[in-house]
Amino acid sequence: HFDRHDSFWLFGYGSLIWKADFPFIERRPAYVEGWTRRFWQGSHDHRGTPAAPGRVATLVRQQDALCHGMAYRIEPGVLAGLDLREKNGYLRERVAVKFEHGRAEEGLIYLATEHNAAFLGEAPPAEMAAQIAHAHGPSGSNREYLLNLAEALTEQGVHDGHVATLVSLLPPAEGES
Ligand code: BEZ
Repeated sequence: HFDRHDSFWLFGYGSLIWKADFPFIERRPAYVEGWTRRFWQGSHDHRGTPAAPGRVATLVRQQDALCHGMAYRIEPGVLAGLDLREKNGYLRERVAVKFEHGRAEEGLIYLATEHNAAFLGEAPPAEMAAQIAHAHGPSGSNREYLLNLAEALTEQGVHDGHVATLVSLLPPAEGES
């Protein structure tokens, strides 16, 4: 049980990669095996509205896949402040978090499955990109979320085909020619 540990790894694969507004002891680039990042979770409260929901990342199981992200070593009490389970219905899943050289440590992820009320699932890539280009919410534009994620992955030297496809299909921003 995580509460019995002084600290553990929280693995971030979405906004947690570039937006760590919680206290952490250390952070390291890391990856998880058997999971892949997909823009299949709807966002009507952060990167969209109920009328025009955005799309944000969740993790989907896929054999032989890897998902790169950022691991944060945190104290258990920090999870309560994150509020992802309580407010957004995300599930917590225990995972092996892997670091450079393949060393694995126990950690956890938050994810949305098809049981999450806001889950959207798969759609043709061009449709997902158009939806992202047009959605805005209290946390900012959905476009900015996608581009922040793409930039953070590039900085880590990571290529994510799904993210790259969505970026390449983004219609121009309003006001751009
Ligand atoms: C993540 O970046 O890992 C994440 C962010 C928000 C909700 C769930 C997961």
